[in-house]
Amino acid sequence: MAGRVEGKVAIVVGGGQTPGETIGNGRATAILLAREGARVVVADRRLESAEDTVKMIRGEGGEAMTVATDATSEASVRELIARTLAGYGTLNILHNNVGASIALGDAVAIDITEEAFDRSFAMNLKSAWLASKHAMPALRESAGSIVNISSLAVLQAYPLVGYKTMKTALVALTHNLAAANAQYGVRVNAILPGLMNTPMAIEARVAQGRPREEVVAMRDAKIPLGRKMGTGWDVAYAALFLHSDEARFITGVALPVDGGEWVSYGG
Ligand SMILES: NC(=O)c1ccc[n+]([C@@H]2O[C@H](COP(=O)([O-])OP(=O)(O)OC[C@H]3O[C@@H](n4cnc5c(N)ncnc54)[C@H](O)[C@@H]3O)[C@@H](O)[C@H]2O)c1
Repeated sequence: MAGRVEGKVAIVVGGGQTPGETIGNGRATAILLAREGARVVVADRRLESAEDTVKMIRGEGGEAMTVATDATSEASVRELIARTLAGYGTLNILHNNVGASIALGDAVAIDITEEAFDRSFAMNLKSAWLASKHAMPALRESAGSIVNISSLAVLQAYPLVGYKTMKTALVALTHNLAAANAQYGVRVNAILPGLMNTPMAIEARVAQGRPREEVVAMRDAKIPLGRKMGTGWDVAYAALFLHSDEARFITGVALPVDGGEWVSYGG
């Protein structure tokens, strides 16, 4: 049976993962796209982490390659697209997963440093714009798809100014790119993950000195569906749908993947 993205070429930017006990959103998405028939370019600034993802894909019989990439550098992103086209000949899917909050030194507006604000801008917003800019000519040729990983923080009174601001602007970027590229058949959507049990979310809080069990229990308790956080696979399945031809009439949406958190508690 043909996979849901059979024959397509995908780049997952941030397709490695923060070390930890569970699977990250980016790695799960790279693996799932490969399972469903895509050849996957795993781009990450930590090459060894991207290589681990590629090993997992090849271990399941899938096809993937790594490109060491700093998603905040235009030269590096240009090189990523060039190496993808040289390696696989086309590009159908761009998945922009890079992003972080606490680990970048984010804080409330009157406390955040200029350096931390700039880091948040570069990682949560500029990275997705750069990759979209350089991938767009190839995506226009293939009538391809972009998914930007934003956050449910967009719809909430999230206290940390960098993440709130940049992830909200990422939705604006999604709208802008969707409107400008619909005429070329390119679809651009965003996902708003809520509380996910991924290493990035848990380890950053454990690093602040909080016990892991307490961090997990507090996050689980906030989720209406099953009283448990989501996983990287929940984000990956939403991304698979949006990248697949099943979503061929969907562009410019920002899809919450949050276990009912927003509809139950609002902002
Ligand atoms: N886990 C959650 O609860 C949650 C909630 C909402 C949104 N998100 C979003 O999900 C995304 C991350 O999910 P994840 O679980 O895959 O995180 P992750 O930290 O496991 O993976 C992100 C990868 O990006 C890489 N990376 C970081 N900076 C980079 C750069 N400049 N260039 C290239 N690669 C870089 C890291 O090395 C890492 O391998 C982020 O955008 C985050 O904001 C997560």
